[in-house]
Amino acid sequence: MADFVAPSPLCDNTLESYDEKQDLDLQRTLERYRETLRSFPIGKGWMTEHLVHYQGFWLAPKAALKGVIWIQDRFKARPTDIVLATFPKTGTTWLRALIFATINRTRYDFSKHPLLTTGPHDCFPFLDAYIYENDQSVSNLDASPSPRLLSTHIPYTLLPDSMTNSSGCSFIYICRNPKDVLVSKWLFMNKLRPKELPPLSLQEAFELFCQGISHYGPYWDHVLGYWNGSLETPTKILFLKYEDLKKEPLAVVKRLAEFLGHPFSLEEESMGVIQEIVRLCSFENLSNLEVNRTSAQKFSRDIIVDNRHFFRKGQVGDSENYLTAEMIERLDEITADKLIGSGLIFGS
Ligand code: A3P
Repeated sequence: MADFVAPSPLCDNTLESYDEKQDLDLQRTLERYRETLRSFPIGKGWMTEHLVHYQGFWLAPKAALKGVIWIQDRFKARPTDIVLATFPKTGTTWLRALIFATINRTRYDFSKHPLLTTGPHDCFPFLDAYIYENDQSVSNLDASPSPRLLSTHIPYTLLPDSMTNSSGCSFIYICRNPKDVLVSKWLFMNKLRPKELPPLSLQEAFELFCQGISHYGPYWDHVLGYWNGSLETPTKILFLKYEDLKKEPLAVVKRLAEFLGHPFSLEEESMGVIQEIVRLCSFENLSNLEVNRTSAQKFSRDIIVDNRHFFRKGQVGDSENYLTAEMIERLDEITADKLIGSGLIFGS
């Protein structure tokens, strides 16, 4: 058995008591996690005290970093996997509901739909947190029938080759204007920030965001990873924008169904099935459901979030009510610099 060095105080030791100590692969993964915590740069966190810089991105030391390392080492991808990939606060909750409702549209009656009583985050697993909980989760995933619906916040370039190569998973990615992401994220993180830590001011959050120091950030690098991937393998990555989804939800849901390999039939279109899906998953509908007003979502043993925190305003451009003109100018400049030559323009 390997001789473990004393872990850093940031380390999540929960797997130490884990029965599978005999499993050499698992031990190697655990040791790689600890080594990363010991030797990689640390930055200021938004919700957690610290973030760890790993392979070009900032990750929360427990759920995110551990999730990334677990997925890199232990996840067995299938070509039939459908993965919703997002940077936090770009529309994950909305797209989760839309994907679930679109793919299962012939299974459920809209008046008794599971989304009326189940939060969008409970409809399919958040891979990053799910997979590292214990190896039982890995076995559960291995035993799940295809196609598996999964979601992740992990940057494209950090995913294992088995997920991103031409016979890997299919991805649906959504991006959002960085100014709205920053404000949405700042308000959300302050709600989850432990009472022992002082609240994070907007000025502090802004500086950190501009420097790229935010969960799964830099934001622009996260977006560009999936954008470039979508240019290389367009049949494997559907790249969407939150603003387009707000403007033309019917057209975007149609594209989504085609990408999922289940295009709407003419009969479904004439029966108004796309409208039903869009209405079911709308901000107004989901945010007023009992389940999304009163229940909570357990992402991992450390992170439990009230469902209501995932529904704030759901508008485009609300950041202008928070950011100063100087902040907007600086963020726009950073965005222009980062996206130069990429062909990508954020929605507005
Ligand atoms: P705001 O804070 O700007 O209101 P995520 O799901 O990735 O955490 O993103 C949360 C953001 O999406 C929040 O943005 C939230 O209000 C918005 N949102 C949640 N559900 C939505 C829906 N059904 N339609 C539109 N926006 C939604």
